[in-house]
Parts: sequence; C-alpha cells; structure tokens
Amino acid sequence: MTRDKLTAYIHTWGCQMNVRDSEHIKGILKGEGYDISDTPEGASLVVLNTCSIREKAEQKFLSELGRLSLQKKKHPELKIAVSGCIAQQQGRALLKSHPSVDFSFGPQNIFGLKEFLYDEHRTAFTKENFEAENEKLQTPHRDNDLRAWVNIMYGCNNYCSYCVVPYTRGRERSRPFEHIISEARDLAGIGYKEITLLGQNVNSYNGGCTFPELLTMISNIEGILRIRFITSHPKDLNAELASTIGENKKICNHIHLPVQSGSSSVLTRMNRKYTYEEYFTKIQLLRKHVPDIAITTDIIAGFPGETDSDHKETVRALKEIEFDGIFAFKYSQRPNTKAAGMDHQLSDKIKSQRLAEILTVSDVITENINNSLEGRCFEVMTEGKSETNAENKWFGRTTSNKIVNFLPNENTKRGLIVMVRIIEGFKHSLDGELVV
Ligand code: SAH
Ligand code: SF4
Ligand code: F3S
Repeated sequence: MTRDKLTAYIHTWGCQMNVRDSEHIKGILKGEGYDISDTPEGASLVVLNTCSIREKAEQKFLSELGRLSLQKKKHPELKIAVSGCIAQQQGRALLKSHPSVDFSFGPQNIFGLKEFLYDEHRTAFTKENFEAENEKLQTPHRDNDLRAWVNIMYGCNNYCSYCVVPYTRGRERSRPFEHIISEARDLAGIGYKEITLLGQNVNSYNGGCTFPELLTMISNIEGILRIRFITSHPKDLNAELASTIGENKKICNHIHLPVQSGSSSVLTRMNRKYTYEEYFTKIQLLRKHVPDIAITTDIIAGFPGETDSDHKETVRALKEIEFDGIFAFKYSQRPNTKAAGMDHQLSDKIKSQRLAEILTVSDVITENINNSLEGRCFEVMTEGKSETNAENKWFGRTTSNKIVNFLPNENTKRGLIVMVRIIEGFKHSLDGELVV
C-alpha cells in the first residue's frame, strides 16, 4: 500500500482531555501520511481512544472493538490500535484477550505514536513519559477552527475514592506558562477566537504563575475574545479566581465545579477534601464576584453506603444552589479504586431511582433558569449554522455557555460577538433574535 492511500479513523470516548488527545493523534498520523476519515469504513488504521471512567464507557469500547475485529477477519490489512485510559490500565491484557489489536498506548505515550506505528511487535506502551508532552505539544491538527482546546496541566493527585483518573493519567504536572502563552498567541495569529484551558483540576495549575494570572495573561492576547476552562476543583477555588472572572470580560461567566454529593459524610468517603458547607460558601463567593455566573456540576448517585438521607441532602443541595446544568451518573465500581472495595455497594435499582430523581429535580431548575432569561440581551459568539434547528437559523454561545439559536442577517459570519435578545428558553438551548 502506498503512503498516500493510508486512511485513519479515530473513535473518541470520554472527556475533553481525550478529545484533545485525539487531535494530537490525528496530527501525528497526518504527519505520517494518513488522511483522517470520519468513518471506520475503508480505513487502514482505526485508533480507539478509550475512556474507563465508568463501566458503560468500557462496554461501548468493547462492543466497537468486537465489531472491528470481525471486520479485520475480512480485511486482515486493517490495523487496530487502542489508546486512552483503558489502554493505560489494561493494555497488555487487551493484547492477550483480543488478537485483533495491533498495539496499544496510554495517554502519556501519545507522542511516541510515530514510532509505535512501525513497531513490528504487538506492544502495550504505558511507560510514563512526561517530558514529551511539553516538547511536542503543538501538533498541527484541530477539529475546530474557531474554538481551540489548550492543555495546561495533566494528571491528577486527588485520588477521589471512586475515580480511575490518577491511575490512568499519572501525577499532576503543569505546562510552563510560557509554552501555554506561546500556543495561545499562535492560535490567535491563525484566527482562533476562543480558547478553553484543559486539565483535570485546572485551578490547581502551578506552571510558574497562579491560574488566575495565567487567565489574565491569555486575556491580554489580541484576537482572543473568550477564555473558558475546565474542570475546576472546589478545594482550589479562591477569591483571586472569583474576582478575576468577575473583572475580566474575556473570561467567560461559567464554571464547571463538580460537587459530587450534597452529603458531607459521603464527600468524606469520596475523599473530596471539602464539606458541602464549604462548597456552598465557594458558590456564594463566586456569585458575589460574578453575579451572572452560570454554574454546572457533576453528581454521582448511589456511592457505596449512601443512605436515603444522604441522597435527600443531594436533592436539597440541587434546590439550594440551582445549577444551570448538571451531569449525573450512577456510581460505577472501578478497578483499583478504594471505593470499589467499600462495604454497602448499592443495587442498580436504588442507583437508578436516585439518579432519576436527581435528573428530574435538576431539569426543572435548568428550564426555570433558562425561562428566566427571556427578554434579556446577551453577547453571543456566532459559531455557524444550527444543526438541530430548521428555518436556516444560526447558533452561538453566551459567555455563560448556553447555546442560542437565532436568525442571521446579511452581516452574520462565524466568530463574531453579536447581541441577541432571548425569546424563549428551553432545557438545552435558547431561542433568540439579533439586536441590531
Ligand atoms: N477531574 C474532574 C472530573 C473527572 S471525571 C473532577 O474532579 O471534577 C468526570 C466525572 O465523572 C466526575 O466528576 C464524576 O462525577 C464522574 N465519575 C468519576 N468516576 C466515577 C465513577 N466511578 N462512577 C460514576 N461516576 C464517576
Ligand atoms: Fe478523578 Fe477526583 Fe481527580 Fe477529578 S479530582 S480526576 S474526580 S480523582
Ligand atoms: Fe475517561 Fe480518562 Fe477522561 S477515564 S473521563 S478519558 S481522563
């Protein structure tokens, strides 16, 4: 097969970190002569970039791998690689259980892909290799030409008792701020308008300045209109960050601040390092400095030993805080984590019931918040034609990260900040009209 016929398909599960990793993978493969395809059909290489945060994510990967393995029986020249968090934890076992897998590599080995491609052996690459990240970060592939992901830190030191991430992504390490600024400048230079800083705990950043200082430096780059960041840990949220968000117009009015539970006793067993009361105080701090801030969160339903009254405290917390949106999950027992070995694991039935109640309560709150925006005007960054909305509407986001659909006018183009009046609020989006 000649090089110019090589085609790769990358299937991505999991968080933004994994999405960004897939961009790196695509960039490296393009450098090796691959075209990137958006379907697996006809691809000469398929990379499955996996997530192991919950069992469900793992099952989805296994069923896709099963499907591809059958395809490979018909087309033995198809190469299958497995990357991401499952590869880090189970790479070697996967090679044994799935002869169809040619090689696997963990999140800390992405920058070795160029060599792995030509390795004759079926190998699982899982060695921690932190240096490569800083050297070679600027791979030339990005999925979007307006909004860019920028890694600022890797790994996690927190060891929440339910979570695999510290085992798959290694210890916390921050990129030097000079590298981040230089990447952001380059992005502005080629027309990017929005940057989202990425890390498992972005506000624990310590690459030579504080996280708020980093935000401020990026906001001084001409051409960058908006800065977002994800995910923040409540324990490191302080007044400096709250006031920086409040005072700097380019820093978006949105924070994703996972609370996980409204019960302090569950939070202790989760090893979250804050009580619910402390979390609530931080919410008040944020709202004092940034009155319009949108706050979203993650909730785990049915952690081991969670009592009915713990669950009620979570529901009460949802009503007290009124999040703009939540991601809620049934607790999933994960290999090697402390919580997996805890007594009083709950039945799927209880977890499902609690999850359903959490979602019902929070959906009403989200919809009420979005309804309350009707009649108000917001700055929206235009992103393109709305995919879900007929009538030729366009969509964009408010600084609070809400999707707004609106009818364009003759001046509408991508990457502008326009004023939009909200006509109707829904659960997942807003309808609005341009204010000219
Ligand atoms: N670093 C981020 C989030 C990482 S994972 C943080 O600390 O907030 C994203 C979310 O997945 C977590 O916030 C948590 O709500 C959920 N999660 C992680 N492990 C889980 C598990 N074992 N079962 C169910 N949900 C889990
Ligand atoms: Fe997982 Fe906790 Fe680290 Fe988030 S802070 S990645 S939930 S261990
Ligand atoms: Fe999943 Fe790994 Fe991200 S487990 S959520 S892909 S850090």
